[in-house]
Amino acid sequence: MMNHLISAKDLSAEQIHNLFGVARIFTSIVKQGQTIPLLKGTTTVNLFYENSTRTRTSFELAVRKLEGGLLTFSASGSSAQKGETLIDTARNITAMGPHCIVMRHSSSGSPTLLSRMISVPIINAGDGLHEHPTQGLLDAFTIQESLGSIQGKKVVIVGDIAHSRVARSNIHILRKLGANVTVCGPPTLLPPELDKMGVPYSYRLEDLLPDADVVMALRIQLERQNRMQIPSLSEYSRFWGLNQQRVKLLKKNCIILHPGPINRGVEMDPEVADGPHSLILDQVFNGVVVRMAVLAEICNPSALRKWLDQGGFRV
Ligand code: CP
Repeated sequence: MMNHLISAKDLSAEQIHNLFGVARIFTSIVKQGQTIPLLKGTTTVNLFYENSTRTRTSFELAVRKLEGGLLTFSASGSSAQKGETLIDTARNITAMGPHCIVMRHSSSGSPTLLSRMISVPIINAGDGLHEHPTQGLLDAFTIQESLGSIQGKKVVIVGDIAHSRVARSNIHILRKLGANVTVCGPPTLLPPELDKMGVPYSYRLEDLLPDADVVMALRIQLERQNRMQIPSLSEYSRFWGLNQQRVKLLKKNCIILHPGPINRGVEMDPEVADGPHSLILDQVFNGVVVRMAVLAEICNPSALRKWLDQGGFRV
C-alpha cells in the first residue's frame, strides 16, 4: 500500500513489479481507446512550480483515462507570484477537497515537507536535484518491456549526473530490479556520493558502449548549475555526446533512452535520437500508463484490486 510516492528509494522490488503488471494491463486497454473508471468521483491537482511538457501532460492524460477530475495549477499566473508560500498554497488547495496532489518544485525535499503538513496523498513529479520517481519507473518499464527483463542488464547513464533527479530515481529502481548500472560523464558532473552509493563510474563513454544493453543519455542542465561546470557544450558533445560514430560501437539490440527534453546536437545527435536504437517516444507513451498505475494504486487501491479480480487480470 502506497500513501505517497516521493522517492524511488521507498519502493520495494515487489511494489515496482506490481506497478509494471498494472501498467501492462492498462497498456492494452488504452491502446484500444478505452477508459477505466478507477478515479471516477475524485479530483487530482497538478501543482507545477516548474515548467514541464511530458510529466504534466501525461499525468493529465492518465487522470482522464482513469475518468478522474483534474485541476491544473501553474505557479505563473497564480498568487505564488504575489509571494504566497508553497505551504499556504498547498493548504488552500487542500481546503478545496482534492484526492491527490501531483507536484513539481525546484526545491529538493518540498514534497516531503508538504506530505507532513497536509493529509492528501502526494506524488512527486520532480523536486530539485532530488528525485523524479515516476520518470524512473517509466524508464525501467520501457527497458522491461523492450528487453524482457531488467535483471543482469548493463545500463549506462551518461550526462549531467550531479544535477539529475532522473539519474537518482533510475539508479534506485534499476538496482532494486537487478540491473548493473554504471554512470559516465565529465568529472565535474559526477557527484561524490556515487562512491557512498557504490555506483561504478567512468569518464570514457567508449569503454562502456560495446557491452551496454541500455544507454540512457541525460540532459545537460545549465539551469541547475551555479556556474558552467564544463568548458563548453561543444566540448561536452565531443567527448560524451551520442553520435553515429559512437552508436556503431553498440550491440545491435542495445536501446537508447532519454527522458527529454533533448538538447539535440549536445547529448545526442538528431540521427541518434530518431534512429533505430532509440525508444524515446516509447518512454513518453509508457509515461501515461505507468502514471495511471501509480495514480490508481495511490488514490484507489481497493477499487484497483476489485477491478483486476473482476476482469480476471493477473499482475
Ligand atoms: N522528463 C521530464 O520530466 O520532462 P518534462 O520536464 O517535460 O516533464
